[in-house]
Amino acid sequence: MKIRAAITAVGGYVPERVLTNAEIETMADTNDQWIRERTGIAERRILDKGRATSDMAVIAVNDLLSRTPYTAADISLIICATVSPDHVYPATANIIADKIGATKSWGFDMNAACAGFLYALRTGAQFIESGTHQRVLVVGADTMSIRVDYEDRNTCILFGDGAGAVLLEPDTEGNGMIDAQFEVDGSGCAYLQQPAGGSYEPVSVQNVRAKRQFIHQEGSTVYKFAVKGMADVTEEVMKRNGLTHEDVRFLVPHQANKRIIDATASRAGLPPEKVMINIQRYGNTTCATIPLCLWDWQKQLRKGDNLMLAAFGGGFAWGSVYLKWAYDGE
Ligand code: UT7
Repeated sequence: MKIRAAITAVGGYVPERVLTNAEIETMADTNDQWIRERTGIAERRILDKGRATSDMAVIAVNDLLSRTPYTAADISLIICATVSPDHVYPATANIIADKIGATKSWGFDMNAACAGFLYALRTGAQFIESGTHQRVLVVGADTMSIRVDYEDRNTCILFGDGAGAVLLEPDTEGNGMIDAQFEVDGSGCAYLQQPAGGSYEPVSVQNVRAKRQFIHQEGSTVYKFAVKGMADVTEEVMKRNGLTHEDVRFLVPHQANKRIIDATASRAGLPPEKVMINIQRYGNTTCATIPLCLWDWQKQLRKGDNLMLAAFGGGFAWGSVYLKWAYDGE
């Protein structure tokens, strides 16, 4: 039987510090009611100063490993999806490998903004399917609090910090990743980006004063593309695999806005109890949203469950993954 890449363990971590809507009201011209109604977010987690993205990822990975018979030395590849790496280089995956003691692993980072985890998951799956790797860690981790201007009400209400990780192993029982589809549209760069800090606009005193090292988003434009992109690609992958809403156990959507999630679920014909939503507690943790959903729901998942994962983010970059869950939750 064909070798498929199955998720065999999940780990997660969110920082202890909670940033509520009430606190954000004291920083920016916004209010709790608007944030809840327009985004579904009530609070998010914020990493303490002095800690970095890899620190959250290491806790998530150790949480994952504690649910497996393996140690870090059994991992052969680490892919870290992030838009807030510890450093521009080296890759955060390398730092994670060093901190957990993954002495026999190589690794690299992947940037597809909010779709990063799904891109990394698809990439990691290729190494399993080809038979060259037996245990691949896919991490999604972001410290969005360093990317946010807390006086900008367009963005500061949305984002939070967190990390999630999954282990991929070969499966020959018909479970694992069945299908996936990804799309990009580089013209979307204008609507969601971090203007300064790259080669196009290197960091300078002037642009830091102008706050160009923070996220800039034209929210309503991104919203329209996100609703269409996520719903279209999910519907297409379901259709070509002969899946109806009855066959799908859970939709696992990127958590950017509850209204985008609801629109995607509605197009797929999925009722609320079949949709993983934790945006009210964590906000948008960018690359960590999907693994944090799996982490929160892992007890409810059963071997053979059909899951549809979907994400949309800066780039624009978006996609959907269809997988069959490979084990019974604890
Ligand atoms: O994960 C990566 C991809 N990102 C996304 O998917 C995010 C997509 N976008 C969104 O989620 C939404 O567009 C936002 C939550 C960012 C904004 O919601 P919206 O319903 O699109 O609001 P809007 O930008 O169209 O603004 C509507 C009104 C405006 O006032 P007027 O012009 O109608 O008087 C804004 O000035 O709401 C105002 N507004 C706010 N009011 C209170 C915008 N932000 C806020 C705020 N608090 N934080």
